[in-house]
Amino acid sequence: MGTVETKEEVTFKLNGIDVTVPKGTTVMAAAKREKVAIPHFCWHPGLSVAGVCRFCMVKVKGRPKLEISCNLEATPGMEVDTVSDEVKDSHKWALEFHLANHPLDCPICDQAGECGLQKYYMSVGKYNSQMTEEKVLKPKALDVGDKLVLDTERCILCSRCVRFENEVTKTGGLGIFDRGDRAIIGTYGDEKITHNYQENLVDICPVGAFTSKEFRFKQRVWFLKEKSSICPGCSTGCAVSIHAKPEMETYFRVKPRYDKKVNGHWMCDKGREILSGLDKKERLENSYLQDQDEFSTCERPDMINHLNSLLSRFRGKKISLLVSAQYTNEEYERLFSFFVEKMGVRSIFQWRSKEEKLNDFDGILLRGDRNPNTRGLLDALRKFHILKEVENEFEACLTSSSDLIFAFSPLLSSSFSSFEEDLARLSKLKSCVCLFTTSYQARDYIGFNSLIPLVSFPEKTGHYTNYKGEKRELEGAYPSFIHEGFDVCELVNELDSNIKASLRA
Ligand code: SF4
Ligand code: SF4
Ligand code: FES
Repeated sequence: MGTVETKEEVTFKLNGIDVTVPKGTTVMAAAKREKVAIPHFCWHPGLSVAGVCRFCMVKVKGRPKLEISCNLEATPGMEVDTVSDEVKDSHKWALEFHLANHPLDCPICDQAGECGLQKYYMSVGKYNSQMTEEKVLKPKALDVGDKLVLDTERCILCSRCVRFENEVTKTGGLGIFDRGDRAIIGTYGDEKITHNYQENLVDICPVGAFTSKEFRFKQRVWFLKEKSSICPGCSTGCAVSIHAKPEMETYFRVKPRYDKKVNGHWMCDKGREILSGLDKKERLENSYLQDQDEFSTCERPDMINHLNSLLSRFRGKKISLLVSAQYTNEEYERLFSFFVEKMGVRSIFQWRSKEEKLNDFDGILLRGDRNPNTRGLLDALRKFHILKEVENEFEACLTSSSDLIFAFSPLLSSSFSSFEEDLARLSKLKSCVCLFTTSYQARDYIGFNSLIPLVSFPEKTGHYTNYKGEKRELEGAYPSFIHEGFDVCELVNELDSNIKASLRA
């Protein structure tokens, strides 16, 4: 924290340069905004100020002692120095004391490459250490939560995690026990942390004390690419970054991306599961086609030809769309402009999870609507004069006596408890073209007319509309790992141009 919503402003000097900030802003927050680096451990913009690490010292002209900048309000005319030898010397010594009991774990520590201690050692380190005392040993690799491992020896007692538990989840699950060099971070007794926001503790811990069970030892972070995306795990639409190793065609982890209006600094643990099933080895890689009792793979052009001949064959018959709320606004627009406007399809069914509790909200971020774009789907349907309320119409679709169904599956099967069962039932219909991302053994769905692999959310551009009506942008973070995968808009464009050509002929 450290910035305030006010119209009143103050101007002060930061390293000799005038800086104007809202009244109430701390020197630390102002420096951050101005991209002036002040070393810090305990300060975090999403938490209250603790002032415990004593790392963020600055000099205020006219005052006798150095002061911590995270708890220092900028006042008019104040002159702050962050770069003098006296200030730099204080940073060196603060770091030296933080390292006093920190183990030399870097080669086996998951935080290596994104560790505050490593980073600051390079920029403000006191390379001729004068510490000769034995390090105090503390318990390592403790199982403290469903998703967390805690190494108390690595902890620098910054208290970020304690404040997160008190202020964000309000679960109060962590405390600092004992005093002096025996002070230790931990849960109360044998209690474990079980809430849905555990991995934020890993994100905010500036050292490798909290590590993620899911990500531990999977990959060195410097090998990962990091790209912006939006979490499709529920209708909140949190801003996230996706860390992947494209050369291995593997996604590794999701982290929250700061978005003041939607998710601030946080995301939930359910949202960290959105990559499940998206690595190349888990995906449906090819199109499959039913032809004279053979269910076999086919190339993209053959699939397009097949869909075109299906559309011609079923022209004038009952064609239906079964659509989940996990596609982008652009995909809905393209789908409905082709199927509704051009092909005259009026029979559109929503495909939703059986166990959905639409109005649930956990009071922090997670919503019961586990689709990213319910609102976008309803808006698009309305635009094409098909008025719907949110409803699971899967059963209605099954009994609709449709001659041909195009089923646009949920792309995130992890939040769709009935997905496999639904797929199996669909595959028993007479003529169903099923489009999806994750791989369920194609042979299990041999009854489909055809199976089409789609690119998934990190691999496409477009927008979701979240529950509040805000547009959330997918930036096409990675090229698709599935070379035969179809983008819905491209697929429909091809069908559309072929229909035009056949009408001209
Ligand atoms: S575990 Fe990490 S976040 Fe918690 S007090 Fe220790 S260093 Fe800080
Ligand atoms: S609250 Fe919803 S959108 Fe945000 S991270 Fe969790 S599942 Fe994803
Ligand atoms: S960041 Fe200011 S005292 Fe820790």
